[in-house]
Amino acid sequence: MKNLFPEIPCLKGERVTLKKITAADASGLSELINNNNVYRYLPTFLFERRYADIDEVIAKLYTECLEESLIIGVFAGGELTGLIELYGLREEIHKVSVGYRFLERFWGKGLASEALSVLIRYLYDETDIEIITASTMVENKASAKVLRKNGFDIVVSAVGEDWGYEELTIADKWIR
Ligand SMILES: CC(C)(COP(=O)(O)OP(=O)(O)OC[C@H]1O[C@@H](n2cnc3c(N)ncnc32)[C@H](O)[C@@H]1OP(=O)(O)O)[C@@H](O)C(=O)NCCC(=O)NCCS
Repeated sequence: MKNLFPEIPCLKGERVTLKKITAADASGLSELINNNNVYRYLPTFLFERRYADIDEVIAKLYTECLEESLIIGVFAGGELTGLIELYGLREEIHKVSVGYRFLERFWGKGLASEALSVLIRYLYDETDIEIITASTMVENKASAKVLRKNGFDIVVSAVGEDWGYEELTIADKWIR
C-alpha cells in the first residue's frame, strides 16, 4: 500500500479533512468500534478491531496495518467522524478498493459521500489508480447510495463473498 503515495495524505474537502489517526483520537475510535450497529454490514476482520487495546490499534495503523491497507480518519469540526480505507491494491492493473464506516451520531449528514469524493479525486489526480472498486452487503442501502452518488455502478450483483462470517456474505460489487 505504501507504493501508492509518497506519504500518508492529508486531504481537505468543504467540510471534511481526511488525515492520519493519532493517539488523540482514541475515544472517537473506541466509540466507533464498540458500536455493533456500525459493524452490522461490515467484514469481521477490519484492522481497527484486531486488538483489544485501542492504543495498540492506533500505534499499528501506519506500520502493521499499512502492509495491507491504509485507514485514515475523516474529521469534521476537528472531531473524528469516521474511517475511510484503501485496500486490495493491484499495482499491475492500477486498481484499489475502498471502504468506510462512520460513528452513528454522524450518519445522514453527507459526510461519507463527501469523504469518498475527496478520496476519489486524490486517487485519480495524484496517483496512477485507474479503477476503484467497492463491495456492499445487498441490504446496505445507505452505502449503496453513497457509492451511486459518487459515480460507482454495480458490476456484479448478489455474489457470495468471504467476509469472515460462518456463511458467505451476499454482496454487490461496484466499480468506478
Ligand atoms: C453507510 C454510511 C457510511 C453512510 O454514511 P453517511 O455519512 O450517513 O452517508 P451520507 O449522509 O453521505 O449518504 C447516505 C445516503 O443514504 C441514504 N440512506 C440512509 N439510510 C438509508 C436506507 N436505509 N435506505 C435508503 N437510503 C438510505 C441517506 O438518505 C443519504 O442519501 P441522500 O444524500 O440522498 O439523502 C454509514 O451509515 C455507516 O457508517 N454505516 C455503517 C458502516 C457501513 O455500512 N459502511 C459501509 C460498508 S460497505
